[in-house]
Amino acid sequence: MRTRRRSPLCMCVVAAAITVAVVVPVVSMEAQGGGPRGAAPAPGRGASAAQARGAAASQMRTDVDLLHVMRGILFPSSNVVFAAQDDLSVWKPAADPSTSPNPLTSTYGGWTAVENASLALVESANLLLIPGRLCSSGKPAPVQRADWIKFVQGLRDAGNAAYKAAQSKGQDAMVAATGDLADACSACHAVYREKPGTANRCVP
Ligand code: HEC
Repeated sequence: MRTRRRSPLCMCVVAAAITVAVVVPVVSMEAQGGGPRGAAPAPGRGASAAQARGAAASQMRTDVDLLHVMRGILFPSSNVVFAAQDDLSVWKPAADPSTSPNPLTSTYGGWTAVENASLALVESANLLLIPGRLCSSGKPAPVQRADWIKFVQGLRDAGNAAYKAAQSKGQDAMVAATGDLADACSACHAVYREKPGTANRCVP
């Protein structure tokens, strides 16, 4: 069980390094295990490293604005996690679980759905750090700002804690984890979303 938990965490560290420091995956892998510590090439070390960085950055796209990342990914995933504050046995498997639009009644239902939704939130943190994604104001999301990065880390931590609580199937742990998750969402919303009119959204 421990190894399963470490796996997504480990990928997060790599992915965050890619996003924040704009380091290519191959460099991250070297830094993680392959060579000696501190062997990761410094920026400007050579043309090939610079080219690789450019290639990796060009693969990242933000076709979807922040509002729809929230509505399409964070909102439905968090509702599955929040459902675990109450007795999950009310969610009976659907007649055909393989086609259920509700994760809780699907093939991967019940606590498994809560685990998966928690992990979706963990990974969604990386989506909130890709440069260039627009807010509904038309301005880019402020992904370089220190408090934004801190709020995103709060989401990642809360998602990982929810995953752990779901694995334990403990109601008390789950209630605590969902409280922290709600706090992680609203900490960022208080600064960047709760503005009069969408024109000012994502503006601190
Ligand atoms: C790092 C900042 C940040 C975090 C963390 C964050 N949000 Fe958001 N969220 C925003 C911003 C900014 C907007 C407004 C986007 C816009 O209008 O462009 C928003 C918008 C939304 C909306 C759309 C509201 C509408 O007007 O339709 C929903 C739903 C939402 N967030 C849910 C969540 C949930 C649930 C979480 C936690 C699991 C979360 N968000 C975490 C920044 C964040």
